[in-house]
Amino acid sequence: MQEATTNDPGMLDSYTDGSTAGLRVACNYALSAEGKRVRPLLLLGSARAVTSQGVSSAALSAVSRAIEIVHIYSLIHDDLPAMDDDDMRRGKPSLHKAFDEATAILVGDGLQARAFELIADAPDISAEQKVRMVKILARAAGIRGMVGGQYTDIQAVDSDLGLEALQRMHMMKTGALIQASLALGGIAANASDEQLEALDKYGQHIGLAFQVVDDILDVESDEATLGKTKGKDAAANKPTYVTLLGLNGAKSEARRLLAMSLIELDSFGESADGLRDLARYLVKRDR
Ligand code: IPE
Ligand code: IPE
Ligand code: MG
Ligand code: MG
Ligand code: MG
Repeated sequence: MQEATTNDPGMLDSYTDGSTAGLRVACNYALSAEGKRVRPLLLLGSARAVTSQGVSSAALSAVSRAIEIVHIYSLIHDDLPAMDDDDMRRGKPSLHKAFDEATAILVGDGLQARAFELIADAPDISAEQKVRMVKILARAAGIRGMVGGQYTDIQAVDSDLGLEALQRMHMMKTGALIQASLALGGIAANASDEQLEALDKYGQHIGLAFQVVDDILDVESDEATLGKTKGKDAAANKPTYVTLLGLNGAKSEARRLLAMSLIELDSFGESADGLRDLARYLVKRDR
């Protein structure tokens, strides 16, 4: 899982002056924490599925960083007291605990903006590819994607969401960025419309499965492995796949979604083995 070198703590060094040195320290705190790097790995897997010709590794590295720092921003804001009020992230105090809330909000905002700068500056890809990537990432991160899903999640506290509404919420708050990762990898590799469509359907299933497993781990995993506080969903009285389907029901739904995702890769042959392995890992992971 270490192949994607996304969290480069030095990536902000060159453009912060003395007055923002503290902000740089906080950004580097966020960027140096070890996550699973699922989104960059999906992006690389997607590019490989499309072509064996080898896409510029500098281009893939820039775009992978962009997607991962949008994700990191989403985690920083997700942990804020106004949202999930979570004190631990990736095995360390959450950013607002290590620094303060204003800094956490600003680091999140700054990282999101940085993501789009990274795509604009990415080497070895055309202006047309960049515009497509920016549009996809902006949509996935925004109100029709992650931010919209997060809003629904907060509104759903203490309420009974039906399965369909819960599914929609999960697909927005988590699935959208996962689908965007696959689309960006595909675009970097000059995928055809048919290939992008297949990757998107794979991403729909695996993106939903990813959040179903996150709900399961919130109940089942241990904090040391998870690197974040366990039992937060129940404590906040949030509807999850586990509250709606029970643990066994949620697990069998994750397995069903895994099977569906694999079917969508059939048209790719062996070049998609990386994505197949990732899908299996995402469903059987323990963190
Ligand atoms: C956690 O994401 C938040 C969700 C979207 C479910 P990850 O499980 O990918 O977190 P990291 O990146 O490994 O820390
Ligand atoms: C968060 O979902 C999804 C995001 C967009 C960050 P959760 O709130 O379930 O994520 P964790 O469990 O805190 O990582
Ligand atoms: Mg949350
Ligand atoms: Mg949370
Ligand atoms: Mg969770």
